Amino acid sequence: MNSEFWRQRWQRGELGWHEDDFNRHLAEYWPGMAVAPAARVFVPLCGKSLDMLWLAGSGHPVLGVEISEVAAVAICDENGLSPRIADEPPFRRYAMDEIEILVGDFFDLTPAHLAGVGAVYDRASLIALPPAMRPRYAEHLAALLPAGVQSLLITLDYDPVRMAGPPFAVAADEVEMLFSPAFDIDSLASFDVIAESPRWRQRGLDWLKEHVFRLRRRS
Ligand SMILES: C[S@@+](CC[C@H](N)C(=O)[O-])C[C@H]1O[C@@H](n2cnc3c(N)ncnc32)[C@H](O)[C@@H]1O
Repeated sequence: MNSEFWRQRWQRGELGWHEDDFNRHLAEYWPGMAVAPAARVFVPLCGKSLDMLWLAGSGHPVLGVEISEVAAVAICDENGLSPRIADEPPFRRYAMDEIEILVGDFFDLTPAHLAGVGAVYDRASLIALPPAMRPRYAEHLAALLPAGVQSLLITLDYDPVRMAGPPFAVAADEVEMLFSPAFDIDSLASFDVIAESPRWRQRGLDWLKEHVFRLRRRS
């Protein structure tokens, strides 16, 4: 699964993961993280998530990274935002008032790009990556973040025998395995959402869980 796969998904408008409202777990669990009020929040693999607007509206400058420029243009157009656009190879920066998006590859980010980041909001990133890429994702995220930074992580789990991803199933055990070398992990909640999601039943699933975690980068 490479960058081209995702660029084509955006070109074709195949955005099954996108939520037309703020994520309910963000509103419920973010306040309990006690992130400093004006801390800059990093949103990896951000898509055109409205959660960036929720975070900005809560006083957090936001830095997203997204491989598809179509996504960056869409979040501006759909929300009446006028970006200042600057080429900063290997990225192109879309800067709005409180939201900046680096268009490019997450794996090209360096700690300098994340200067001033005090927290992370990470929904639907791991489920976009096939199993073999996830250890690299977790290691790169750890390398980007200073000690003490917390992340609200939201993943999806189902019986992988019944459906091929993406979205890929990511079990709670795997989150533990991926992140425990560099992060303290609290499991905050798990919800079976299959009853709300008839399209997943049609794809053969009989359960579908959302897991919510708090990670804290260790020193
Ligand atoms: C499943 S979507 C989730 C988007 C967003 N987090 C949300 O909750 O709506 C995954 C996103 O990651 C982007 N993506 C995939 N690989 C990437 C990479 N290596 N670097 C940056 N973005 C990437 C895709 O284009 C897609 O928008």
